[in-house]
Amino acid sequence: MNRDFPEDFLFGSSTAAHQVEGGNVGNDWWAWEHTPGSTAPVPSGDAIDQYHRYAEDFSLLSALGQNAHRLSLEWSRIEPEPGEFSMAALDHYRRVLDTLGELDLTAFVTLHHFTLPRWLSQQGGWLAPAAIERFERYCERVADALGDLMPYACTVNEPQIVALFGYLEGTHPPGLRNPMLWRRVTGRLVEAHAAALRALRAGAGSPQAGVCLQLPALEPARPEDPGCVALYEELRAEIYDAHLNGLEGDFVGVQYYSRMRVDPAASTRFAPAPPGAPLTQMGWEIHPEGLYEAIEAAAGTGLPVVVTENGIATADDAERIAYLHSHLGQVARALRDGVDVRGYLYWSSFDNFEWAEGYQPTFGLVGIDREDGLRRIVRPSAHAFGEVARTGRLEGMVTS
Ligand code: GCO
Repeated sequence: MNRDFPEDFLFGSSTAAHQVEGGNVGNDWWAWEHTPGSTAPVPSGDAIDQYHRYAEDFSLLSALGQNAHRLSLEWSRIEPEPGEFSMAALDHYRRVLDTLGELDLTAFVTLHHFTLPRWLSQQGGWLAPAAIERFERYCERVADALGDLMPYACTVNEPQIVALFGYLEGTHPPGLRNPMLWRRVTGRLVEAHAAALRALRAGAGSPQAGVCLQLPALEPARPEDPGCVALYEELRAEIYDAHLNGLEGDFVGVQYYSRMRVDPAASTRFAPAPPGAPLTQMGWEIHPEGLYEAIEAAAGTGLPVVVTENGIATADDAERIAYLHSHLGQVARALRDGVDVRGYLYWSSFDNFEWAEGYQPTFGLVGIDREDGLRRIVRPSAHAFGEVARTGRLEGMVTS
């Protein structure tokens, strides 16, 4: 029987520490959530309490047929004060990664997923003169203590979103809207990736390391308007070229959700989706072909590709199955065209804390009942995805 995906293809799902662990009181997001007037509608609070429930959660994902899992380490737990490292936190994450290993879930471990320790944000965050040095010191500690348990390491998650939302749109901390600082932070994050790579190479084990890039299908909303094309080109340079040109690493992580039509007349710089386009709970247009284009752009670096995030926020799980089917179809198409794609990690394993959108959007293969002790509720899409993982075939995935 013909497979759509090779035998050793990695099928799993992704999370990030602040979105699932709960109680991350020492980072800049926690502070932001408790700042009156910030974009955070609710505090993350206990999130889904995965700091304590990781073993049951990972067993569930493994039983559902997944063979890989992506999570992130919380820097503020590991280094609660500058230069002061918590052995207990590092031991905790050793147990977490050991548990993944015991369950044959290949670990993708992100070193930085949006949050910074408060002490660093108070010094200016990524703009602090010592930011890269501090990040590299943290990465060295992590690589020494945990590198042997990391088959894959993600250096920085979506540097483009950190820069864009934090320093140009102002929707994530530190809430700035300054084009000059936006570009400066882009440069800093390129350096941060290089620093993490050095640390991982020098540390324990031999993790395959790479950056995880958000690669939306960018288009000018009005190709005949020179101002629109100019802004499109500027965004393309910051979001694509700054990160992909000359990229180093062992793989490149592709994170894809939607098409984004650049429009200088829109307050957010992006036009609303065309009338009648199918939208997710996030208001994002469903546009599967963009995933193929993102994979192609990433493969242009010459590095193997792993889709480290792709997913849908929806209240209708049948829609999630259809989304998985159409997007996995684009991954299969890239494989057929000879692109070296190693894996696909759905965002997200569980419903979780969606940053400035709080708990409203539901991305999970597994739902969370927040009214009933954070009870896990396996959705049909989790079984449908597991079936593809087990058979390597898309056929048979029920879509409505
Ligand atoms: C990002 C992050 C995730 C998000 C996801 C859905 O892409 O912003 O990596 O933390 O939750 O993308 O928006």
